[in-house]
Amino acid sequence: MQIKKILITGAAGYLAGFIIDRLHLKYKLTLIDLVKPPPDFENLPFVKGDITSYHDVEKACVGQDAVVHLVALVRQRFDKPLGLFADIMVKGTWNVAEACAKQGVQRLVNISSISACNPLPDSKLPYCVGDPFQFKQGDLYYALAKYLGEQIGNAYYQAHGLSTIHLRPGVIAGDGLNPGPEAPTGADQPWFIYVDPRDIAQAVELAIETQDIDCGCFNIVSGRQDASYDWIQSRQQLGYNPEHNWLEIPESGTKS
Ligand SMILES: NC(=O)c1ccc[n+]([C@@H]2O[C@H](COP(=O)([O-])OP(=O)(O)OC[C@H]3O[C@@H](n4cnc5c(N)ncnc54)[C@H](O)[C@@H]3O)[C@@H](O)[C@H]2O)c1
Repeated sequence: MQIKKILITGAAGYLAGFIIDRLHLKYKLTLIDLVKPPPDFENLPFVKGDITSYHDVEKACVGQDAVVHLVALVRQRFDKPLGLFADIMVKGTWNVAEACAKQGVQRLVNISSISACNPLPDSKLPYCVGDPFQFKQGDLYYALAKYLGEQIGNAYYQAHGLSTIHLRPGVIAGDGLNPGPEAPTGADQPWFIYVDPRDIAQAVELAIETQDIDCGCFNIVSGRQDASYDWIQSRQQLGYNPEHNWLEIPESGTKS
């Protein structure tokens, strides 16, 4: 597999900026979003397109070797109706997978979330990919849409051989939605759920470049012993090496 041209969906978003920064000197990037990306990226080809339109998505996929799929309902999602999650996240991801298969795109890197798999109440942490999980009432539309997005990618891998790698980032500190981490006092369980967007960008580059994995799912969180989602599998299989780990917060989980 040789990847040179990459389509980035949701390219005007917060996380996409870090991914574009990391990839733009190495790859030919094309950006797609409903709104124009920031001026920093105005020298890159931009397609104004709606992820819910199959026509827009397939047109943007023509000639691409890989797609990094980021579109989701993220900020201000909490009062949004079910139909919007179904359209933007489920139909949108389905459009992307179908267009990749039709256009011979080699690899889909799907930005999922740790929300796709909420650990059982009494489970032993850190949560590893494949452990049992359960949905909760809170944020159900988002969590379910992320889970279904992963299933869509897996189906297209099975049916069409579309290489699909899901990355499940933890909470992105500094995204304007989430405050930074604050250590609870007396934490007796791994509690750290955060990740720095530069480390997610590193994971995206690894997911684009790996020759060993055709289909897989990886937690992408900070590299701490008290991380509540396992990242060792991502290190072992993908080479993920998180570099921004909030060392000022003691790893025991309590403030000194
Ligand atoms: N922010 C977090 O803490 C966090 C954590 C884990 C995973 N993620 C995932 O990372 C990805 C990026 O998140 P973000 O924080 O950068 O979000 P963001 O809201 O900044 O970016 C999403 C982008 O998608 C675009 N978009 C929305 N609807 C669209 C449509 N119909 N057609 C085309 N584009 C559309 C928006 O314009 C926006 O630029 C998402 O998939 C999100 O679920 C985020």
